[in-house]
Amino acid sequence: MLTNWIQRIRARTIALLSLAAAVCFTAVACSGGGGSTVATATGPSISPDLVADYIHTVLAADRTAYTKHVVSRVKTLEGKEKDKGVLDVESTEGWQQTDGIPLPAQMFRLGYEIANESGLFTYGLISPWYINDNHGPKSDFEKVAMDEMVASGEPYKGYQEVGDQAYFSAMYPDKAVAEACVSCHNTHPVHLERYPDKVFELDEVMGGVVINIPVESMPAA
Ligand code: HEC
Repeated sequence: MLTNWIQRIRARTIALLSLAAAVCFTAVACSGGGGSTVATATGPSISPDLVADYIHTVLAADRTAYTKHVVSRVKTLEGKEKDKGVLDVESTEGWQQTDGIPLPAQMFRLGYEIANESGLFTYGLISPWYINDNHGPKSDFEKVAMDEMVASGEPYKGYQEVGDQAYFSAMYPDKAVAEACVSCHNTHPVHLERYPDKVFELDEVMGGVVINIPVESMPAA
């Protein structure tokens, strides 16, 4: 009898606490002006712009670390011998067929294929001169962002609606920071067939990393 009563009190307290949490959450979510903020249940809101910068920092760091500390230590990169290689393995596009290891762009894709299933946000690597068919700019936002970014060399950020969902989207330039970027893409059979006139040069924007963060609504025009 008594335990029953305590249980009921407990259930009510929990219900009340969840209601309070929901009210706090809504207050935080709505306090950002124009719904342009990412709400957190426990603390101050963070702008999606900053969230995108955080995510991009991690993505770029992981890709650089993999390139610098794994791929640059392999004995062979896409059929070409490397004199400073210490790992007896090849980094190659056909890594699954040759018992090799993935190229950095493939490693990046293997990561986003897993992360994009989380349902929290999505990201990807795209380019107007894509080798992988899934990497072409698709939405109007991506097409405009890509043109602007290729022209300016700077990140491009904005809002877009896909279906009924509003997103804050940010595109960051992926530049030819090493000679290997240029030489591998310029001599890739798919590149040669599709874009025979496109010859990448060092430091050029070769594509972009795009990050899409769902937001409550599009900002007021
Ligand atoms: C040894 C070859 C090789 C090197 C080096 C290389 N890439 Fe790639 N890159 C590829 C391949 C192959 C793909 C397609 C990967 C896939 O299957 O998704 C790709 C994909 C890309 C994409 C996405 C668009 C597309 O073509 O599918 C961008 C952008 C890109 N690379 C930029 C770079 C940059 C910048 C560097 C240097 C930091 C670089 N790549 C180094 C082979 C290479």
